[in-house]
Amino acid sequence: MGEDFAGRAGLVTGAGSGIGRAAAVKFASEGAKVVIADVDTDGSEATKAMIDQLGGEALCVCTDVTRAADVEALVERTVAAYGRLDFAFNNAGIAGDIVPLIDYSEELWDRVIGVNLKGVWLCMKYEIRQMLSQTPGGGAIVNTASVMGLISSASNPVAYTASKHGVIGITKNAALGYAGSGIRVNAVCPGYIMTPLVEGILERHPERKAQILADHPVGRLGVPEEISEAAVWLCSDAASFVNGTAMTVDGGYVAH
Ligand SMILES: NC(=O)c1ccc[n+]([C@@H]2O[C@H](COP(=O)([O-])OP(=O)(O)OC[C@H]3O[C@@H](n4cnc5c(N)ncnc54)[C@H](O)[C@@H]3O)[C@@H](O)[C@H]2O)c1
Repeated sequence: MGEDFAGRAGLVTGAGSGIGRAAAVKFASEGAKVVIADVDTDGSEATKAMIDQLGGEALCVCTDVTRAADVEALVERTVAAYGRLDFAFNNAGIAGDIVPLIDYSEELWDRVIGVNLKGVWLCMKYEIRQMLSQTPGGGAIVNTASVMGLISSASNPVAYTASKHGVIGITKNAALGYAGSGIRVNAVCPGYIMTPLVEGILERHPERKAQILADHPVGRLGVPEEISEAAVWLCSDAASFVNGTAMTVDGGYVAH
């Protein structure tokens, strides 16, 4: 175990699976106390078991990031258990069905925007309130956007593209609004990463696999640990001058 986050506490949303799970484990392995926030309680418990096995410290708080009361309670539970909130990785997200823009339903639009964009705003709202009120103040926040927050593709679902562009926008808004209070806010923009989210897309649309691979100049998809490395670094003191950025971790996807 490393010591970079010794004595620090934070939360990771969507930590019951994929990128969030890898990040929760990485934060804990660096010495942090980690709150695992997800709607999936079984997935959360599995992440906690991985952290327990490392000898780390973690707590599960069942949270739906689309509900303000849940998010407020998540931050309260984190502070009640660990005393403060030093970092947060707002990562919970859904792909939504791959449907052309002209057939996209209002219900699906509201669901994808609700989790991916409103959820990140709600998390920042309560996290930043806490970071402003604690002594010493400050903290670091990372939001999960996507390469689809910087560019789009004809087949990418319209609400997903909108939500991830929005995440980068509200990341900049928060970074500018609270830099003077010692709070850094950044986004990470993954390419395609092998997680249940992408496995589901490839299962439903096997015809898309060759193009998805071709879109990554490195010739492969990423793994969750390659994103969690970036998220943990952005939350660490090593990134003390990094603020308001949208960092691609994408094997070169947006470079061409
Ligand atoms: N996998 C990729 O290729 C990829 C690429 C770019 C961006 N992302 C983003 O990374 C993030 C994590 O995705 P992943 O690939 O690890 O997916 P995943 O499906 O493996 O994990 C997502 C987790 O979020 C949780 N979640 C869903 N809705 C929630 C809600 N309302 N409240 C709380 N938790 C909720 C799920 O239960 C799940 O555990 C998402 O924001 C996704 O959009 C993923």
